[in-house]
Amino acid sequence: MASHWEDFYATHLPPPDFEDNRSILKEFCERHKKIGQRIVLITSGGTTVPLEHNTVRFVDNFSAGTRGAASAEYFLEHGYTVIFMHRLKSLEPFTRHFNGQKLMDMLELDERGPNTSITVKPDSVDVLAPVLARYKHAQECGRILYINFTTISDYFWLLRAACECLATFESSALLYLAAAVSDFYVPSNEMPTHKIQSGSGVPNIQLQLVPKLLAPLVSLWVPQAFVVSFKLETDEHILIPKARSALNNYKHKLVIGNILQTRSSRVVFVTPDNNYEVVLTREQQLNGMEIEDGIVSNVIISHTEFMKNSKY
Ligand code: PMT
Repeated sequence: MASHWEDFYATHLPPPDFEDNRSILKEFCERHKKIGQRIVLITSGGTTVPLEHNTVRFVDNFSAGTRGAASAEYFLEHGYTVIFMHRLKSLEPFTRHFNGQKLMDMLELDERGPNTSITVKPDSVDVLAPVLARYKHAQECGRILYINFTTISDYFWLLRAACECLATFESSALLYLAAAVSDFYVPSNEMPTHKIQSGSGVPNIQLQLVPKLLAPLVSLWVPQAFVVSFKLETDEHILIPKARSALNNYKHKLVIGNILQTRSSRVVFVTPDNNYEVVLTREQQLNGMEIEDGIVSNVIISHTEFMKNSKY
């Protein structure tokens, strides 16, 4: 059985930097509330489940944070203010384009002692310049806030704090929950303090179900906001039924379903009225287009419609 979400907070302490992050979120939201822009909270990347308090080992998942990081760039392009709540060391907007050795390969080093210089290779300028320009613009406008989590418990505390700040935006707030949140965890009071010893034999680790935060989020924390959740499956046959059942259970407005292997080329939008696909063709992929462009455009159309029909 899943523990109740309130029990989770009662039995898991906030992370050490929680109060700092809460103040940063509060200040950021208050500043942008005055400007009156639309705001999106994007969650991105996977959460870890520690197996020890002094954590040496943990359970993790596949999520790289591509969906969230790419989507953040498109929301910024459409004029949204963005809170990018992501797993530490997962992909981030802008820098994601130069992951691994890509950036190093774009640079030229001219070693001349104290006059050493670094320049961008001429054929890389066209690649680097537009991303750098968009990054600088977002930084100068102060329109993106980066907040990071690692464990499931960090995620719980930060998500609720972010929602508390977003509630005042009413229907102008959009929650875009792309994070792959752990479904199973070891409760704090059942976790050993120190590293599990291999000499003690095979550990018997009992995982429990993580409470779904969508329930309090939709009904209590941000009841006037436009909430978009994601659903990942590996079996095509259950994707739409599971997405629809999430919609029925939590009573929000949109679930975006995706299959693990095809998630960068096809998603299905499941709404209370219908289902429709957003697809990226092979040709579009080869031309450097990204499915998040289409996802974000469609989400914004629905958010706009939602705001029009909302009394808040
Ligand atoms: O990061 P990438 O590699 O680009 O991959 C993107 C993605 C596949 C992770 C993303 O597109 C996606 O599908 N994310 C949701 C994964 C999922 O199936 O989540 P879920 O069924 O466990 O949860 C449903 C929704 O509730 C999600 O929006 C989740 O963020 C949210 N949730 C889940 C559990 C929980 N305790 N609290 C939550 O808020």
